[in-house]
Amino acid sequence: MSNAKEVTLEKAYAGVASNYHGQDVDLNAIYRDMRKNSPIIAENFMGKLGVPNIAGLDANRPTFTVFKHKESMAVLRDASNFTSGFIAEGLGAFFDGLILTGMDGDEHKKARALLQPIFMPDVVNAWRDSKMDPIVRNEYLLPMVPNKKAELMEFALYFPIRLIYALIGFPDDNPEKIRQYAAWALAILAGPQVDAEKAALARKAAMEAAKSLYDAVMEAVVEVRKSGSQDNTLMGRLIRAEFEGRKLDDHEITTFVRSLLPAAGETTTRTFGSLMVLLLQHPDVLERVRNDRSLVGKAIDEAIRLEPVATFKVRQAAQDLELGGMQIPKGAMVQCIVSSANRDEDVFENSETFDIDRKLKPSFGFGFGPHMCIGQFIAKTELNVALNAVLDLFPNIRLDPDRPAPVIEGAQLRGPKSVPVIWD
Ligand code: HEM
Repeated sequence: MSNAKEVTLEKAYAGVASNYHGQDVDLNAIYRDMRKNSPIIAENFMGKLGVPNIAGLDANRPTFTVFKHKESMAVLRDASNFTSGFIAEGLGAFFDGLILTGMDGDEHKKARALLQPIFMPDVVNAWRDSKMDPIVRNEYLLPMVPNKKAELMEFALYFPIRLIYALIGFPDDNPEKIRQYAAWALAILAGPQVDAEKAALARKAAMEAAKSLYDAVMEAVVEVRKSGSQDNTLMGRLIRAEFEGRKLDDHEITTFVRSLLPAAGETTTRTFGSLMVLLLQHPDVLERVRNDRSLVGKAIDEAIRLEPVATFKVRQAAQDLELGGMQIPKGAMVQCIVSSANRDEDVFENSETFDIDRKLKPSFGFGFGPHMCIGQFIAKTELNVALNAVLDLFPNIRLDPDRPAPVIEGAQLRGPKSVPVIWD
């Protein structure tokens, strides 16, 4: 990866997948055991698994790991005692500007207040019919129908990126450019590495990719502003957005839009993959959802509970604290294992079963509290559009019996590598 401009999307995706894969162990069995016997430990659990630190965790800081729903919620909801600013030292260091995930306190609150209206369901629903549905059906799925078989991950790799680019307001007529932006976004994600030699190279590639992406996004923002910025794209809305008399300048819009690219692509790709695997492995549930589309939303929520793509979240203690009976010193890192908390048997009955009929309770697939995913309605709507279109256009879709059964894997950025399907 000597030159960020040469990165291809498939290569970058595979690189990110292996980078965050961790060891081949039965994680769910470990989590079950930890919830029961060691719900909070004074160790860096993910670091021990060999997962590089996406948020630039400093190995010299004491680190705690929590496995239960209760403590995870206590940490994630309390952004004044458990802060996120350290993220700017890791992934955030690849870019300055408006990066919500590494902001704290009032600064974060005000930025969220300014941005939140753009991400609300009324805005997103308007995009659903005008942009999302036609793109998914006409550009991706309809041309696949006559093949009667597909690798669903090939579709999953592209449609979220294509959709977010359309929503952002990049010109629609240059697919090559979109692929290039997507590869840059993934090169940024591949930045943090465990191996020191690899880390230097990956960091350099990530910096170059971040710079190339900045230039490309800035050019588009300037263009939209020049044209009067009255359109309903995300860029148009960001230019018009205002909170307490404050508006965003081009640098802030550019850095925010750039931060959305890694946040919105890979996450939705893998979530779609896991959702499809869970449904295809439960043909009775798939059949119910096919016949009653009001269940699509429930299937999505349940897949995100059972198999969250972002498997853990980290915060830093702002002062000496007590958590789950353990003393946490100021400055220590606290790792919440979302994959475990989402399966906590104290909160969810038959917690390890894929059950779309379960009562909705808070889980952490989109995070929780002040930093909860601002793009969750976009993500859920994209997944909803994609699943509905797949069910409409691929009759009797099922796993391809001639190909290996899909596996949802990975300690972080979890999902399947391959989802081979056939239909009638
Ligand atoms: C299925 C897809 C997605 C998943 C699973 C996901 C997951 C998450 C999670 C877990 C967080 C919380 C981070 C934290 O607590 O530090 C988050 C934050 C965020 N997400 Fe998503 N996300 C998805 C899609 C999207 C999309 C489509 C967008 C944009 C259009 C987006 C934009 C963001 C942003 C900007 C933040 C930072 C919010 C803040 O710190 O205030 N995400 N996401």
